[in-house]
Amino acid sequence: MKKTLILSSLLCLSMLHADNNVTSQISKKQEGVKYIKMLGKTLKTHLKSEMKADKTGLKAVDFCTTKADELTKEINSQLPKGVTVRRTALKTRTDKNKPDTLDSAVMESIINDMDKKNVNLAKPLMVETPSVYRVYKPLFITPACMKCHGNEKSIHPDVQKVITKNYPNDKAMNFQLGDLRGVVVAEINK
Ligand code: HEC
Repeated sequence: MKKTLILSSLLCLSMLHADNNVTSQISKKQEGVKYIKMLGKTLKTHLKSEMKADKTGLKAVDFCTTKADELTKEINSQLPKGVTVRRTALKTRTDKNKPDTLDSAVMESIINDMDKKNVNLAKPLMVETPSVYRVYKPLFITPACMKCHGNEKSIHPDVQKVITKNYPNDKAMNFQLGDLRGVVVAEINK
């Protein structure tokens, strides 16, 4: 009798623990999404207005080349201690945005899921390691991305020039509509 009581209270405790864990995972995911939106929104708003101002994409590519990194740093300086947000991809334009092993594994698994039905690909994913939570938001190629990440033959020659000059190691061209371009990653230290 006593034994059962102990066992059941132990079970209760572990369930409680599991519950706490799930709750904290959900709130960390929401927190990560908030940081991802901060970076995403800032970059998108700037990109949109630069593209509107000059349809060739030349002004916008100047913006991306000189300001994307700066704005990312600025957003990070506003985040709580132990939190970072960044963009990465399997095929990067600049080595500064190179993925680590976990980033690559997550992106490979997203690409795998793209062949499956009933998977909501736009949904952010949460990955937990012993030291951090990471939230990943996939970015897919839309028509707006094609002027700088599309077929190299259809990219405006002036835009092409800026890209070649600034990114000698560029791998982020020749994407097609709907391809996974990369991810935005929020990392929260435990
Ligand atoms: C006007 C040109 C331009 C357009 C349009 C554009 N990008 Fe980029 N993109 C760049 C440049 C330049 C960089 C490198 C920025 C840097 O130096 O940090 C870049 C970098 C990135 C990166 C970071 C990873 C890497 O390769 O270094 C991601 C992710 C990305 N772009 C996604 C997109 C998506 C998604 C769209 C469409 C919604 C898009 N871009 C539209 C020019 C552009």
